[in-house]
Amino acid sequence: MYLFVRDGREYLLAPGETLESDLGILEVPEDVAPGDTVETHLGEAFEVRDLRGPDLFAHFERTGAPMMPRDIGLVMGHTGACGGDRVLDAGTGTGVLTAYLARAGADVVTYERNPEFAEVARSNVEIAGVPDRVEVRVGDVVDDLDDLGTFDLLTLDTEDAPRIVSRARDLLVSGGYVAAYVPFVEGTRAVVEAAREAGLDEIETYETLQREMDFDARGSRPSTAGVGHTGYLVFARA
Ligand SMILES: C[S@@+](CC[C@H](N)C(=O)[O-])C[C@H]1O[C@@H](n2cnc3c(N)ncnc32)[C@H](O)[C@@H]1O
Repeated sequence: MYLFVRDGREYLLAPGETLESDLGILEVPEDVAPGDTVETHLGEAFEVRDLRGPDLFAHFERTGAPMMPRDIGLVMGHTGACGGDRVLDAGTGTGVLTAYLARAGADVVTYERNPEFAEVARSNVEIAGVPDRVEVRVGDVVDDLDDLGTFDLLTLDTEDAPRIVSRARDLLVSGGYVAAYVPFVEGTRAVVEAAREAGLDEIETYETLQREMDFDARGSRPSTAGVGHTGYLVFARA
């Protein structure tokens, strides 16, 4: 899959696919490659690009609310997630966090209890080009905690994150991290308390705020559009 871009429009297409739009019919050649320019039958040109992380966020088919790039950045930065890491991720949802981790070289086992969501996530992972590094398991991760072995990183984005955090000492190698994304303060506190009870170290919690800047003829200031808050991230270490 590649991104076909023209004047702010973007389409995700595979070699051999055909796109019909007001710009004409675009037949994607089998040997298309990033960097090429391809034209519709009306001569309208599209640039061909490889997908990168933010493109996955923008173009994956969505099921569970995907983690935003800003939060994923914090997860990567605070845990040092990297190639060779073994990651347990729950729940999969759309699979955006999973795909970012796998594209960074980690091997990810991710749990999704909704079979339809899991199926969508599998095809998203294919689009991301990392099916060999991701195993999407259908089921409730809590049911399998006794049999999973150990990981370098646990990434949690579920309401029952505290139950998983309470088992983090069994699931993490020494020095491994848990990162839990939580949308509400109440759930965040529950994760922190579970981390304390589990005897985890270096427990830190952050609210994610990001302000986009506007630069126009009148001056420069933070954007007045949109909400800068996304949620809370709890990090802790075994
Ligand atoms: C907010 S979404 C996760 C989004 C994901 N982090 C991403 O970046 O796309 C939460 C998902 O977790 C799943 N889920 C919730 N609790 C679960 C559990 N105990 N085991 C497996 N999946 C679970 C839900 O069905 C939902 O699809």
